[in-house]
Amino acid sequence: MLPGMAGKPLVAIVGAGNLGAALALSLQRVGYSIEAVIARSRGASLKKAERLAKEVGALALVDPVALRAHLIWFCVPDAEIARVARALAGKVDWKGRVALHSSGALTSDELAVLRGRGASAASVHPLMTFVPGSRPSLAGVPFALEGDAAALRVARHVLEDMGSHVYPIRKKDKAVYHAWGTFASPLFTVLLATAEQVAALAGVNPKAAKRRMIPILLQTLANYAAFDAAGAFSGPIVRGDVDTVQRHLRVLRNVPAAREVYAALACAALQYLPVKRKKSLKRALDSWLG
Ligand SMILES: NC(=O)c1ccc[n+]([C@@H]2O[C@H](COP(=O)([O-])OP(=O)(O)OC[C@H]3O[C@@H](n4cnc5c(N)ncnc54)[C@H](OP(=O)(O)O)[C@@H]3O)[C@@H](O)[C@H]2O)c1
Repeated sequence: MLPGMAGKPLVAIVGAGNLGAALALSLQRVGYSIEAVIARSRGASLKKAERLAKEVGALALVDPVALRAHLIWFCVPDAEIARVARALAGKVDWKGRVALHSSGALTSDELAVLRGRGASAASVHPLMTFVPGSRPSLAGVPFALEGDAAALRVARHVLEDMGSHVYPIRKKDKAVYHAWGTFASPLFTVLLATAEQVAALAGVNPKAAKRRMIPILLQTLANYAAFDAAGAFSGPIVRGDVDTVQRHLRVLRNVPAAREVYAALACAALQYLPVKRKKSLKRALDSWLG
């Protein structure tokens, strides 16, 4: 552990967005002190930082010149991480401090400018979704870590205090790791939005579609958790019911984007899941895909 970091290091959060808010609350819950929530600018940005700062007993700052925190956690959009690091590089004495960011796709090299000034840097990505109005606990959440040894030591200590699980990741694997994570929540959500469009074609509005889909969605996740993807897979594709699949593709002509999603997922099923009458299904899908 770096000097001054025995026990629980004082923390500063840069960016009071979805992750910043969930993180600040999780840290506070397990006894960490948040010194400051750092905003981009005065006005709306500072107001948002002030609201979060008030919740966790921190200061809201735009200019962190007198910052004492040893651990500075960048919770800004991926495209802003390097720029914000450059902006803060000359405002804080980085020697001996730890800088973390939580991008899934980008590596700790986004914080290279702070390394150059004596900080130890790492990327620590939670495989979790954070949206406005929801601040999930970080307990039980897996984090993928890479970076400098000192920063990793501190990050592991903090994450384990929060009850998170830590896993190493190689820099070269970050983009594909993040593509995996994108399937687990954002693309899964796109699938739900697509399903609502198909429901509309059957005269069911999105609100009712959501209400009626929840039980089957929850059971599917429960089956996936209890068994595996193959064990959770039911319906016409696993049964090799070519006629039904063709009927679906025919009626989905009126929602072309949904039909493409259906056909792409059915093709993936042929590769990754147990499917009866695979060859006939493949022929049927190929004829629709052209
Ligand atoms: N959301 C997720 O599900 C999720 C999951 C895993 C990892 N992450 C990672 O978490 C990081 C943040 O994502 P997010 O979803 O929390 O984004 P977000 O909700 O858009 O929040 C980003 C925050 O950064 C602030 N910001 C932008 N530029 C800034 C600057 N120059 N100085 C200080 N603050 C600045 C924004 O302030 P303004 O209000 O002024 O714009 C905003 O409050 C990203 O690296 C992302 O990859 C997110």
